[in-house]
Amino acid sequence: MAGAEESAARAEGAGTGAEEEVLRPHAEDAFAYELKALAAADDRPRPARWNLSPWAVATYLLGGVLPDGTAISPKYVGPRRIVEVAVTTLATDRALLLLGVPGTAKTWVSEHLAAAVSGDSTLLVQGTAGTPEEAIRYGWDYARLLAHGPSRDALVPGPVMRAMSGGGIARVEELTRIPADVQDTLITILSEKTLPIPELGQEVMAVRGFNLIATANDRDRGVNDLSSALRRRFNTVVLPLPATVEDEVDIVARRVDQMGRAIDLPQAPPGADEIRRVVTVFRELRDGVTADGRTKVKSPSGTLSTAEAISVVTGGLALAAHFGDGVLRSADVAAGILGAVVRDPAADRVVWNEYLESVVRERDGWKDFYRACREVSA
Ligand SMILES: Nc1ncnc2c1ncn2[C@@H]1O[C@H](COP(=O)(O)OP(=O)(O)OP(=O)(O)O)[C@@H](O)[C@H]1O
Ligand SMILES: [Mg+2]
Repeated sequence: MAGAEESAARAEGAGTGAEEEVLRPHAEDAFAYELKALAAADDRPRPARWNLSPWAVATYLLGGVLPDGTAISPKYVGPRRIVEVAVTTLATDRALLLLGVPGTAKTWVSEHLAAAVSGDSTLLVQGTAGTPEEAIRYGWDYARLLAHGPSRDALVPGPVMRAMSGGGIARVEELTRIPADVQDTLITILSEKTLPIPELGQEVMAVRGFNLIATANDRDRGVNDLSSALRRRFNTVVLPLPATVEDEVDIVARRVDQMGRAIDLPQAPPGADEIRRVVTVFRELRDGVTADGRTKVKSPSGTLSTAEAISVVTGGLALAAHFGDGVLRSADVAAGILGAVVRDPAADRVVWNEYLESVVRERDGWKDFYRACREVSA
């Protein structure tokens, strides 16, 4: 890591400093301090080329306090076993598939796992309907190819190839969006641990430490389903939605705080009431029933994930900071909630109005919120 990046990273980790230039540092930079402390405290066996033992990787994700008093912040809030299974999988010859509905931290967990295991979360292939085979295997530097013909010098390795030769972790985002024939490129890589280069009559063989983390969205199922041949190469770990309101409020508050610092929002009082309200509204609409289980409500068409709750609260904090008194209030989150809930202008608006009138209006202590929502819904 270059010196400038390193100091930018340290600045972001500490939340102060003038070098804060990078808008979103990679996990291994943002949390370099924690990773270093973990490595120093870690006396358990490490798999080949791992920076940390599986135990230390799990601690990095779930948080904890080291014997020397260093606090490790929790990155993922959820069942410990899920993290343990995910980390252990990476130490086996099977790849890891993180599956779940949108906004369940699949990408987030994948980045932090790669950062903790191999210190590099950047070997990333973004899966889309247009992802070509070259993105997974390799491409060519055409100037060199034309001048000197095919050679190792003219070959431009892709992220997966680089992870194979360096013994690191490669990441594939949104695996099921990638066309099936391109997905199949991964079969040889994952089962034979080799990537043939027919043009040169050569191959790149994966060295120990290599593995791959893929993420896929539950909702995309059926777009390009995984072939059973490929699926067998993966251990699937399903990331659940946060189990309780408390968990979800905790996640939102934590992330909002981190993101607020990254975009220089004035340090505002957390506005815990408003965060809880956003989370409650999202959960009730998502579950189709109020928190007390008494009233059925209709669900809107969009997904109201934790990730969306984070955006609504961050947007609200910006409003409060720039146009309010700095304290997060109902009026600051109302517009954001409306935007997240009403995706389909006709059907979702009906759902939202029904929820407002039958649930929000009647609820103790929610008068201001009701009024703010009415105002923006009009
Ligand atoms: N259980 C959780 N613990 C910690 N953070 C969470 C959790 N659930 C969601 N988040 C936060 O939600 C945000 C969105 O997560 P992320 O983008 O990883 O979701 P995703 O599952 O990849 O969604 P998509 O399917 O849309 O790609 C992240 O900022 C992450 O911190
Ligand atoms: Mg994602």
